[in-house]
Amino acid sequence: MSEFQVTRDGLLLDGKPFRVLSGAMHYFRTLPEQWADRLGKLRAMGLNTVETYVAWNLHEPRRGEFDFTGMADLESFLDEAGRQGLHAIVRPGPYICAEWENGGVPSWVRYRHRCHDPRWLEPVDAFFDELIPRIAGRQITRGGNVIMVQVENEYGSYGDDRAYLRHLADGLRARDIEVPLFTSDGSWDLMVTGGTLPGVYATANFGSDPAAEFAAFARHRPADPAFCMEFWNGWFDHWGEEHTVRDAGEAAATLEALLATGAHVNLYMAHGGTSFGFFAGANAGGPHADGAYQPTVTSYDYDAPISEHGALTPKYWAYREVLGRYTDLPPAPAGTVRTLPPTPVALGGSLALLDCLDTLSSGTITSARPPSFEDMGQAYGLAVHRSRLPGPRAEELPLRLPGLHDRAHVIIDGEVRDVLHRDENTSTPVATGPGGAALTLIVEAMGRVNYGPVQGEDKGLTGGVLHERQQVFGWETDPVPLDDLSGLPWGRPTSSAGPSFHRGSFEVDTPLDAFLSLEGWTKGYAWVNGFLLGRYWDRGPQTALYVPYPLLTSGSNEVVILEMDAPGTGLTLRSEPRLG
Ligand code: GLA
Repeated sequence: MSEFQVTRDGLLLDGKPFRVLSGAMHYFRTLPEQWADRLGKLRAMGLNTVETYVAWNLHEPRRGEFDFTGMADLESFLDEAGRQGLHAIVRPGPYICAEWENGGVPSWVRYRHRCHDPRWLEPVDAFFDELIPRIAGRQITRGGNVIMVQVENEYGSYGDDRAYLRHLADGLRARDIEVPLFTSDGSWDLMVTGGTLPGVYATANFGSDPAAEFAAFARHRPADPAFCMEFWNGWFDHWGEEHTVRDAGEAAATLEALLATGAHVNLYMAHGGTSFGFFAGANAGGPHADGAYQPTVTSYDYDAPISEHGALTPKYWAYREVLGRYTDLPPAPAGTVRTLPPTPVALGGSLALLDCLDTLSSGTITSARPPSFEDMGQAYGLAVHRSRLPGPRAEELPLRLPGLHDRAHVIIDGEVRDVLHRDENTSTPVATGPGGAALTLIVEAMGRVNYGPVQGEDKGLTGGVLHERQQVFGWETDPVPLDDLSGLPWGRPTSSAGPSFHRGSFEVDTPLDAFLSLEGWTKGYAWVNGFLLGRYWDRGPQTALYVPYPLLTSGSNEVVILEMDAPGTGLTLRSEPRLG
């Protein structure tokens, strides 16, 4: 049994000064088969600790239905970290930001204000009853490797409800967390004063200028040992924006400056991984939510020292050299990772989405107003709404989708009339003949916002549908969660307009990592052997999706693409990432 303490004289492990050299890696962004590889590389860089968030929406997809298996097996991840010689810092949320769908909050939590209100606290406490004992059992005091547990996440960037933070901290203690608790916030007065809690260790988040950041933070918390809980050594990308990189030499010099102050560090990220499935989040134009919606790409490579597919980057070696001045380095790891040679995918078979709703819909809903995703109890995916517009309406009038989250194909009498997009174009002119017109809307949800004041918004048609000023009533809706494509009726005659599925196959000798290139395709989703890799979009910057080797089998493998707009003509697996 061991003890880890935060004291005025610094951090102590079993009574002796201990320098925390930590790196972030999210178990939910790397396949379990690859945890050991990534954690081993993290240790070999010179780090002694791994930090992870906990993604609530992965663990409790439906209220009261918990999953801690496979990629959600937090306990096995912590155990593997222990085997690799790493201590662990756990940040259980309930909110985690992290460019993760809804900041980790399940979409079925309808009251999404993070404050001391029973409508928020009740689902949080129910989740913590399931989660926290799994962490408690792995504390360093009980033979495990967990040395610290966070209270909320950067709460000062969001609110000022001390009673809420106190409730969480007390709740962690009541659920047997005995290692030090901490908060982490920007060093700005606004954030430190909102996000910290008297008696709970306060840590700082920043990317540059360590001495100034720590000095600003210390004005509020002079007695807390300096700890940068998120040293941003890279950054993430939004669709349609430039790929962000941070120079390795400059990042290493900043790390050196940080460590030279004597402070503790957590690299955010040491290994970023991938926001597989529907889990990539979004921002919304700045801190005051007065700007446009910015969905985040599928890769969470983050320009981290250990790349998305586990390659050791120049930043890795530069960091290792810096860390080597502060700690004994384990042996250097092998520098290369193997990937598949370029591999063509043989395409064969397509199906219009509208021709297979019988196998995709989770049950048609009839309602006066079109339901939002939350109304349907559906977290992610698509919704197909059908109604009729009366006629004749000789004049073209705007068909308006005011609260569109986030994209909609407008299909009039079987033809795609327009594709509407939140913040860009949310209306299209429509006239009708004497018999009126059949209206179909295929609504696609991108990631829910994970940061800022509009966090917690609903998906789908959140503001109804209007023809000019007139509400369109009388809808039939097919929820299309895209969670199981095994029933797709390949071979069925298909002629409908709009999004379409495409099937392909490729041969593999020995499974190795690869990158599915979507160049030539427009926008959509890609599955390999039934696993949803994530979203793609020709707006870039990312144009190939990471295919981790554990998804592949020796022999024949299947690809399914759901292309929302215009399909490409070919498909290949590449040997290298294409992040932009
Ligand atoms: C903040 C959050 C993290 C992450 C970073 C940006 O610091 O705490 O979860 O969102 O910003 O990558």
